[in-house]
Amino acid sequence: MILKPSAENIKRAAELLQSGKLVAFPTETVYGLGANALNPAAVQNIFEVKGRPSSDPLIVHLYSAEQVSSVADLEDSDFILPRFNKLSKFWPGPLSIVLPKRDCVPSIVTAGLNSVAVRIPAHPVALELLKVSELPLAAPSANPFSYVSPTSAQHVEDQLGAKIELILDGGASSIGIESTVVSLVNDQVTILRPGAVTKEMLEKTLGEEVVVSSQKSEKAAPSPGMFEKHYSPRTRLAFRDEVDLSSFAGSIGLISFNEDFQDLPVEFHAVNTLSTSGNKDEIARNLYNAIREQDGLGLDLILIDRCDEAGIGMALMDRLRRAVT
Ligand code: TXA
Ligand code: MG
Repeated sequence: MILKPSAENIKRAAELLQSGKLVAFPTETVYGLGANALNPAAVQNIFEVKGRPSSDPLIVHLYSAEQVSSVADLEDSDFILPRFNKLSKFWPGPLSIVLPKRDCVPSIVTAGLNSVAVRIPAHPVALELLKVSELPLAAPSANPFSYVSPTSAQHVEDQLGAKIELILDGGASSIGIESTVVSLVNDQVTILRPGAVTKEMLEKTLGEEVVVSSQKSEKAAPSPGMFEKHYSPRTRLAFRDEVDLSSFAGSIGLISFNEDFQDLPVEFHAVNTLSTSGNKDEIARNLYNAIREQDGLGLDLILIDRCDEAGIGMALMDRLRRAVT
C-alpha cells in the first residue's frame, strides 16, 4: 500500500520496522526496502522478498554521522578516521562508505564480510523515518533482484506491492541512480560502485587518488553484489550503435540522451528523450523510469544511447553496461 508521508504514516512505518516488518521508503537515489538492521530475521525477509542472493551485502542507513561508530569501527586503522571525516561531508547524500564492522551488525546484513556499508540519505522522508524509528535501517533498492531500481513509489508497488505492507511516497527520486559505494578498508580508497558522488569529487575532497574497482564479474569483484548482469529490463536492451537497424524486423523503442535522433533510418514505436540538452544529471534522473516504461510495451528491442565517462557519466555507463542484454 502506498501512503503519503504524513507524521502519522511515518509513525506507523516506524512501528512496523520496530516489529520486524519491511517498509519501502524514498531516498534521493532510488527507493529502498528497509528493515531493522540489527534484527537478522527482519533482514532475512529483505532477501526473500527481493529474491536476492545472500552473498550480496546490504547498506545500513543512518540518521547522523555520530551513529556510525555504533555499527562501524572508525579507529580500526590510522588510515580510516581522517578520510571518513572528509567523506562524511557528502552526507546526507548519495555516498555509501564501507568500514570495518562492529559485532552488533548481524552477518546476514554484510553477507558474512567483516565490513559494513553505511549511508545517510538526503531525503526528508527517509531521515524522518530513521529518526522516528530510532533504528539503523538495512535497505537495498526496492526491486526484485537484478531488475531496474525503483525511482517512484509506484515502481515499488508494481513489483513488490503484494509482498510489503507499506510504501512511503516521497515523489520521484531526484538523483535516480544508486549511491556511490566507496571502501576505506584495506588501507585504500576504492570506488566499488560509481554514483552521483563522482571520482572527481572524491579526489578533490580527499586530496588523493581514488582507485576504481574495474572488475565486472561477481567472482573477481571485491564488492560482492556488483554482478555483470544487473539493472536489466526483460526486453532486450542494446546500445544504439551496436545494432544494425537495416536488418531488424521487430518493434523498436529508443531511449535517447538528447534530441539528436531525428534522421535515423527506422520508425520507433516509442521514444523517451531523457534530456533535451544531453545533461547527465537529468539523464540519470529519468533513466530508470524510461527503461521501465518501455519494458512494459512489449517491444522486441530497446535501443539506448551512451555518454562520456566524466563525472556522473561513469555511473551511467556502469549501469548501462550491466543492463544491456
Ligand atoms: O542508493 C543506494 O545505495 C540505494 C538506496 C536505497 O540507499 N541502495 C542500494 O542498495 O542500491 P543495493 O543493495 O541495491 O546495493 C548495495 C551494494 C551491494 O550490492 C554491494 O555491492 C555494496 O553495496 N555493498 C554493501 N555492503 C558492502 C560491503 N560490506 N562491502 C562491499 N560492498 C558492499
Ligand atoms: Mg539494487
